[in-house]
This record gives sequence, C-alpha cells and structure tokens, in this order.
Amino acid sequence: MRMYDIILKKRNGGELTKEEIDFVVNGYTKGEIPDYQMSALLMAIYFQKMNKRETADLTMAMVNSGEVVDLSAIEGIKVDKHSTGGVGDTTTLVLGPMVAAAGAPVAKMSGRGLGHTGGTLDKLESISGLSIEMPKEKFIENVNKVKLAVAGQTANLAPADKKLYALRDVTATVDNISLIASSIMSKKIAAGADAIVLDVKTGAGAFMKTLDDSFALAKEMVDIGTNVGRNTVAIVSDMDEPLGLAVGNALEVKEAIDTLKGHGPKDLYELCMTLGSYMLILANKADTVEKARKILEETITSGSALNKFKEFVVAQGGNPDVIDNPELLPTAKNVIEYKAKKSGYINKIVAIDVGIAALVLGAGRETKESEVDLAVGIVLNKKVGDYVNEGETLCYIHVNDMSKLADCERRLENAFEIVEEKVEQRPLIFGVVT
Ligand code: URA
Ligand code: CA
Repeated sequence: MRMYDIILKKRNGGELTKEEIDFVVNGYTKGEIPDYQMSALLMAIYFQKMNKRETADLTMAMVNSGEVVDLSAIEGIKVDKHSTGGVGDTTTLVLGPMVAAAGAPVAKMSGRGLGHTGGTLDKLESISGLSIEMPKEKFIENVNKVKLAVAGQTANLAPADKKLYALRDVTATVDNISLIASSIMSKKIAAGADAIVLDVKTGAGAFMKTLDDSFALAKEMVDIGTNVGRNTVAIVSDMDEPLGLAVGNALEVKEAIDTLKGHGPKDLYELCMTLGSYMLILANKADTVEKARKILEETITSGSALNKFKEFVVAQGGNPDVIDNPELLPTAKNVIEYKAKKSGYINKIVAIDVGIAALVLGAGRETKESEVDLAVGIVLNKKVGDYVNEGETLCYIHVNDMSKLADCERRLENAFEIVEEKVEQRPLIFGVVT
C-alpha cells in the first residue's frame, strides 16, 4: 500500500477501505508517514468528507493505536459523559455525585483546561489534599466502593488522535465533522465506556456556532457510538452565554457544591438533570426520562448527592470540610465589581469573551505549561434577559494580580451587550439525538 495512492483516491472523492485507514493511522502514529503526506490527506478529507463507515473505521483505528482501558472489573454499566467544551461548565462535578448516588458507577477520566475552557482536574485540585493521580487498581476499587472516581487520562490513550489533532490544529483541518467526531469518540471508547452521553455545545462559546452544525456533529458521534456497540445519546445545549454564574476553578467547585445543596444556578441544575437522566437510562437505572429525573431530584432533596460528593473527596484524599465550609477553598485577594455603563436588557454575554477574561486573570492555561491560579475568575451577577441599571454590578472579578485587571475589564467590555428592548431568552437545550 502506498500513501500517495490513498491521498489521490481521497482527493478524487473515493471511499477509503478499512485496510487503507488502518495503514494510514498506524503508519502516521509510528512516524513512517511524514507530516506533509498526512496533511495532504487531511485536506483531501476536509473537502471530500468521509462517510459513516469510514468515520467509524477511523475512530476504531485511533482507539487501537494505544491503550484501551479495561473497566470490566467495575460492576454495572459504565456510562461516561463528555462535553465538547464550554465556559464555566461545571456539570461533571454535579453529575458525578448525583448519578453515583442514584447507583450508577461513574468512572471518569478527565482532562485539564486549555485556553478559555476549563478542565475538571484543575477544578478538583482546588480542594486541598485531593489527588487525581492513582493506580488503576485504586481507581477501580474506588468506583466499586464509592461509585465515583475521577482520574487523569492515561498518557497512552489514543496517541494517533493526539498526533493528528496537533497536525490538524496547524493545517486548518480541525473543523470537519468526521474528524472532530472520530477524535472525541476515539478517546471515550479507549477510556473504557460502555455507554456515552454527549453534551454538544452550540453558540458563541462552542466549537460549533450554528444549530445545523451542532446537530450534524451530534448525529455523527451518536452514529459512531452505535456502529461500534456503545449506546450513545447526545444533547445539544447552549453555550452562547456561560453556564451558571461562576467561571474559574475554586469558584466553580463552590457553584457545584451550591447546586448539590439545591440552590445552584437554574441553567446548570437543568442541564445536569437532563444529562443525568440519560446517563441513568443508559445505565439501566430508569426506563423513562421522567422516572430518571425523579430519582435525580431525590438525590438533591435527600442530601444523598452531597454526601456522595463528600465520600468521593475523602476517598481521593481531599478535605471534606470544604463542602460545609466552601470558604476553605482558595480565595482571591480582591473582589472587584464590574459595573454596567448603561441601563437596559442584557442581550448577550459572549461565553468565549468571559472565558478569556477569566483566562487573563490566571484561571486557565495559555499553553500546556502555564500555571493555573485556582482562586481567580469571574462570577456573573446577571444573565441574558435580565434588566440592569447603569452602575449596577454585571459581574464580580476575583483577582490576585491587580496588574491583570485592566486587560480583564477590556475583555469583559466585549462580552456584555445591553439593549433597550426586552430580550428573548435562548433555550438551554435545543434537542436530543439518539
Ligand atoms: N475536541 C477533540 O478532542 N477533538 C477535536 O477534533 C475537536 C475537539
Ligand atoms: Ca459555571
């Protein structure tokens, strides 16, 4: 087999066989196929696209390029949740305890934040003592005992994707639906999930800015999952404005704790109820969305989800006192009010701009090597649709290094749009793809 022939075939609109796809993925991972040929093939795929079968074969080739985590020692159906990336998306910290309290095992491998999007691992590390590094045996033991464990991703998970994603990033070939879908699904499948619930974000803060593209990506991922024997459901949810109020690591942990106590932001609570309901259905713990939701609501009102979070924190070495006393979490030296410059209805809070405002304070990573300041971030005081008076607080800036404040405020200036007429609220959930 020759790489040249495969590039030519795809360039001319042909369909690649499984053998050809395996050849490409293996050869590229091993370094036998050079970047320039792989770049040419990616661009050919970008223009000529891949069909469902090719996309599923590409996914499995990337899964098999590295370690496939075996979670069979965990009792029950392991349902994983994946979000395509958002700003202030605190769902994992709420969903994990709720779903575990409802009896479904949650074996979560999470990542760190990069750029304007946060990562669950960074957030959890704002709980003193909590470790997300543990041997695989301990991880499995914790899931069997507590029903919930969160760990860092194994280094050798889908290495082909790691290499390909880096190449796509610099060759303008990221935003192809087959390539995004296979990239995300390869990591979920390699991480050992039996079933997968996807939260596909749509809007200004998301990869996919339009509803059509978001639904197409959702459908593509659901089809891959189904094709390779993993029950998969996708929710398309809004990421025009940030989710909840808090954007920043310790601030989001506090928001998650508030939500588990039953007084979190409404949008975060609603999204967790929806995602959690499908997780319970896929885990065979409920047969309808209505029944699943009832079970989840019960975990909040009874306090069992909050207790589950405590149990999880203790099991991973963290200080459980933060749950009753969230003021024990890292706090910033200064909290600055950011005020409205005019009166009116809030028409937009652009998620990506709020994410970048938090990033410049140190809440996120500019590069993989950046240090994160766990205490800093933004807490919204208003959401889209609210009325605000001139001089009223739009959000609070939690900042340590005051030399960063001006840059942060400049980003926030872009984020908020205030208009005279009343504003229609965007729906939180646009649909479900099964
Ligand atoms: N996230 C991924 O993991 N891969 C993509 O291609 C895009 C987003
Ligand atoms: Ca939030």
